[in-house]
Amino acid sequence: RKPVTINTLQSLYRKNEPITMITAHDFPSAHVADHAGMDMILVGDSLAMVALGMEDTSEVLMEEMLLHCRSVARATKGAFTVGDLPMGTYEISPEQALASAIRMVKEGRVKSVKLEGGKEMAPTISKITSAGIPVLAHVGLTPQRQNALGGFRVQGKSTASALNLLEDAKAVQEAGAYAVVLEAVPAEVAALVTRKLSIPTIGIGAGNGCSGQVLVQTDMMGNFPPGRFLPKFVKQYGNVWAEAMRAMQEYKAEVKSRAYPAPEHTYPMSQEVFSEFER
Ligand code: KIV
Ligand code: NA
Repeated sequence: RKPVTINTLQSLYRKNEPITMITAHDFPSAHVADHAGMDMILVGDSLAMVALGMEDTSEVLMEEMLLHCRSVARATKGAFTVGDLPMGTYEISPEQALASAIRMVKEGRVKSVKLEGGKEMAPTISKITSAGIPVLAHVGLTPQRQNALGGFRVQGKSTASALNLLEDAKAVQEAGAYAVVLEAVPAEVAALVTRKLSIPTIGIGAGNGCSGQVLVQTDMMGNFPPGRFLPKFVKQYGNVWAEAMRAMQEYKAEVKSRAYPAPEHTYPMSQEVFSEFER
């Protein structure tokens, strides 16, 4: 297929065709996303939890993001790639943010970067986009700021908070963001914000009125042990954990019982070698 570009996304938006986005954190998870025809692949800093076993996203380092971005980029032939700027690599100044964005593109091999924040990030978004690096903004629930938000809470519930969200979304649009992620926002608020903007909104926990949707791949694939808490907005489209467990346990049982390897999995030895051994 033809690689998705910023123009492709623009054209989907104009046609009112939903933009599909999914996270990936390594070569195989990017491979399946790209083969399935996702429009966008995000190397989210959620890889801190789903690929590195960390408690939250605040721990992941630029070097770690770069390693994972490169592996995703190698598997991605068609989708438009986005690398998440990790906490601490863009908040200090627009200059710091641009330097980090350049590393994401040069070393991470992604086509655009994502950063969290609204109006206060406008000068930063302008700086990065003016250097020719497309920026995906992220407003509403911004996980890197969870301690300031008092945890993972729905944003834009009160009038003041909804208006603030709209201001943030407009500010990142004016600053040059090519699209904006709306996370954990009431569906009606997200739909209203989407209608007021002229760039696509990508929703996660933001209802059906957005211009596109994103989910964390590990969540929607069901690639985690039973009993794990999932946010309300996640729909589990698969049960990768159950299938992986089945295969692993079957392998274990067959090795223990010597059912595996069977003759068809082995290399034959010639009669000649056999005779030599038996002498
Ligand atoms: O890190 C991530 O996976 C994200 C998406 C959930 C938007 O930021
Ligand atoms: Na993220």
